[in-house]
Amino acid sequence: MADIAILEVNGKRLEFPVIKGAENELAIDIKTLRAASGGVVTIDPGYKNTGSCTSAITFLNGEEGILRYRGYSIEELADKADFLEVAYLLIFGELPTAAQLAKFDADIKAEAHVDEDVKKILDGFPKTAHPMGVLSSLTSALIAFNPDSVNVNSEEDMYNAIVKIMGKFPVLTAWAHRKKMGLPLDYGDDSLGYVENFMKMMFNKPNKEYKANSVINNSIDKLLILHADHEQNCSTSTVRIVGSSHAGLYASISAGISALWGPLHGGANQAVIEMLEDIKADGGDTKKYMAKAKDKQDPFRLMGFGHRVYKNFDPRAKIIKVAADDVLGALGVEDPILEIAKGLEQEALSDSYFVDRKLYPNVDFYSGIIYRALGIPTEMFTPMFALGRLPGWIAQWREMRLQKEPIGRPRQIYTGENLRSFKDVSKR
Ligand code: ACO
Repeated sequence: MADIAILEVNGKRLEFPVIKGAENELAIDIKTLRAASGGVVTIDPGYKNTGSCTSAITFLNGEEGILRYRGYSIEELADKADFLEVAYLLIFGELPTAAQLAKFDADIKAEAHVDEDVKKILDGFPKTAHPMGVLSSLTSALIAFNPDSVNVNSEEDMYNAIVKIMGKFPVLTAWAHRKKMGLPLDYGDDSLGYVENFMKMMFNKPNKEYKANSVINNSIDKLLILHADHEQNCSTSTVRIVGSSHAGLYASISAGISALWGPLHGGANQAVIEMLEDIKADGGDTKKYMAKAKDKQDPFRLMGFGHRVYKNFDPRAKIIKVAADDVLGALGVEDPILEIAKGLEQEALSDSYFVDRKLYPNVDFYSGIIYRALGIPTEMFTPMFALGRLPGWIAQWREMRLQKEPIGRPRQIYTGENLRSFKDVSKR
């Protein structure tokens, strides 16, 4: 393949370099297009054909169903690593040594508290508030309590900012849940591991000794790993673009949480369970809902199906499907919606509408079923996703700042009115 691309615009022949990634992905570098062509830009709504950056964090091949963090396969990491190791790997590029991991854990623990005044802000929310809104607001509020801007050229400053947010975020996530449940707020127990402590902060009751369940905690650890990064998806691109204005880490992460909330992105895990419950309540007729999903006049979509990048299968969905069976078996949970989910999947995989459009179950199709079996309330599914995605967002923000990327500022093609004269209100 040639290492240049040729484009003819208005009779002018332009040449652009073609850059090659570590896995041989090719991209036409159009940095000089506008200047060389006299003002021509590209247009690509939804960025289906646009690479926004180069990145050394996550490799994803949607055609072959490959996902790797820093070169390690998601299957191997989900099987052998724990969440904190994966967080370190994503953020700093290498698996930590035992000493680095112990220090990372201790430094995060030292930051695993928030200012008591954060409770007053939480107090102002109604109990009905969605925890994603609460989490985004409280993450943004952390700026007020930690106003120092990070010197990104100082490794120490950067490290301190990272352990701070890694420590405080699980507290806020658990508090968003406790607020909803009317439970007293606490800071957990720093003798516990990251995931164990988070689960204690979520479920600890004031009148009962908390007992950890290793099946539940191991599953949560695995789910967090599976969600930890996914290259330039909607929320990650949001984090990078907000950070590109040199807004701080908390502001960037808070924006990422808002982007993740939508049902076409992380909010799909909640939407999937609600959809499966609706189908169950409607008599469990999966064929009826398959027909609705295919009907272009009907806005209904089969939630948990389809993916912008995976056009074969989502490797995370494969791991989660097996884990769902294992976890439900180990906990002795029989969930009728699992059967509905399996039925829908079977039908979709042999239906030409879904096959032709390469629509396969995505990570969210089965994650909600596991979360439910583990006792996580439906509205907390997307905050759980955010907790998992936190290291990915941090890693991408750090990379963007260290690569000194310019401020993200796309162009547009204007389709509005041409110049016209102002008419006084009495003459309109
Ligand atoms: N149900 C029914 N039809 C679908 C679905 C679905 N879930 N997803 C896509 N399609 C159809 C579209 O209607 C379109 O059909 P057409 O070509 O006849 O017009 C075609 O498949 C392509 O769909 P697009 O929306 O153009 O694909 P895009 O890449 O923009 O969207 C998305 C991807 C948003 C994930 C989409 O598949 C969807 O809405 N899925 C349901 C929501 C969901 O599960 N989101 C979670 C994604 S994973 C994550 O963010 C963690």
